[in-house]
Amino acid sequence: MCKNHGVAYVKPGKVEVREIDYPKLALGDRQCHHGVIIKIVSTNICGSDQHMVRGRTTAPEGLILGHEITGVVIEAGRDVEFIKEGDLVSVPFNIACGRCRNCKEGKTGICLNVNPARPGAAYGYVDMGGWVGGQAEYVMVPYADFNLLKFPDPDQAMEKIKDLTLLSDIFPTGYHGAVTAGVGPGAIVYVAGAGPVGLACAASCHLLGAAVVIVGDMIPERLEQARSFGCETIDLRNDTPLPDAIAEIVGVPEVDCAVDCVGFEARGHGANADKEMPATVLNSVMDVTRAGGGIGIPGLYVTGDPGAVDEAAKKGSLSIRLGLGWAKSHSFHTGQCPVMKYHRQLMNAILYDKVQIAKAVNVQIISLQDSVQGYKDFDGGAAKKFVIDPHGMIPN
Ligand SMILES: NC(=O)c1ccc[n+]([C@@H]2O[C@H](COP(=O)([O-])OP(=O)(O)OC[C@H]3O[C@@H](n4cnc5c(N)ncnc54)[C@H](O)[C@@H]3O)[C@@H](O)[C@H]2O)c1
Ligand SMILES: [Zn+2]
Ligand SMILES: [Zn+2]
Repeated sequence: MCKNHGVAYVKPGKVEVREIDYPKLALGDRQCHHGVIIKIVSTNICGSDQHMVRGRTTAPEGLILGHEITGVVIEAGRDVEFIKEGDLVSVPFNIACGRCRNCKEGKTGICLNVNPARPGAAYGYVDMGGWVGGQAEYVMVPYADFNLLKFPDPDQAMEKIKDLTLLSDIFPTGYHGAVTAGVGPGAIVYVAGAGPVGLACAASCHLLGAAVVIVGDMIPERLEQARSFGCETIDLRNDTPLPDAIAEIVGVPEVDCAVDCVGFEARGHGANADKEMPATVLNSVMDVTRAGGGIGIPGLYVTGDPGAVDEAAKKGSLSIRLGLGWAKSHSFHTGQCPVMKYHRQLMNAILYDKVQIAKAVNVQIISLQDSVQGYKDFDGGAAKKFVIDPHGMIPN
């Protein structure tokens, strides 16, 4: 029997690498003859994992983390028709059946058949259906024909694996944030957050033809990273109000589109830069987005937050000035990114050198054992996207 190891959530602030079961083509009693077993080539640590590891969710002890998976198919179930053993594939973090009403409409982030508790599922995530995570050596992927994106040439793909590994989540997620905010040629955009999602969004804005991309954060190294590929930046530790800081860059205190790449653990501006203020990004993007503009919200907001700053926020109720957004006829787009809507096009943008996404988010490859340190460094604000290479397959 093959062995397997994975990254487990132990308690707030603690993850560990432990021996775990080798995957089966099943989830409990649910048979998955439509699934495959994947030998994982790369699996990324995400800001979404950090919400769990910081104790800000109800994630249970022992949950095997990891939803950003790329790998080689080593076993295909009886009902898998088109994906074959040996295929090198990107796994969208959303698990989708391909058969329900939402999947048929392309809304794969809210599939109705993969999570008895609510629409939408993911690997290794609290409340997301109990599917085992893929910060591991091996993982099972259900509905393989529908979910998987096969790279056309495995050798060429391995040369660009640091870029292609980002197709399972943050590149499509950042791109989706930009698209739903209405970014197109000539747009002036504000991106809140310079974590990997914010940086992937900023790079996506450039790909979509934005004229100016302004990134705000309070971590100087992350802002430096944003400048490294042509973004303007705003250091939110400074007291300058956001509209004034935007006016210093583009001459007017507003932008055409804004994207929240922060979510519910947002902190305030200036003197409040260390203080958690969960609604601050939502309110500030309404403030700076022009009337009629779009606001993309890939940043995560939760239905329950045991570590929230007040009772209302513990239930996900935030103090949002919706009247302002209403008065300006803003459009808002929330939710998980439906990865499959974008991953093929973005794969081609990578393969044909139209975007340098690994460079933009500063991919750093680490071993499975080093993932514990990777979690710590990422939580400490490292300007890096940590990518675990569990089998030592990624060339230097
Ligand atoms: N919708 C989706 O499908 C999807 C997919 C992946 C990640 N996410 C979410 O996207 C968010 C970002 O992910 P990440 O990996 O980049 O996380 P991250 O934690 O590394 O980045 C968040 C950044 O926001 C900054 N920040 C805090 N308050 C701010 C404020 N008021 N204004 C501007 N910046 C502020 C932080 O300093 C940090 O650099 C997370 O909430 C994550 O869960 C959503
Ligand atoms: Zn992710
Ligand atoms: Zn479905």
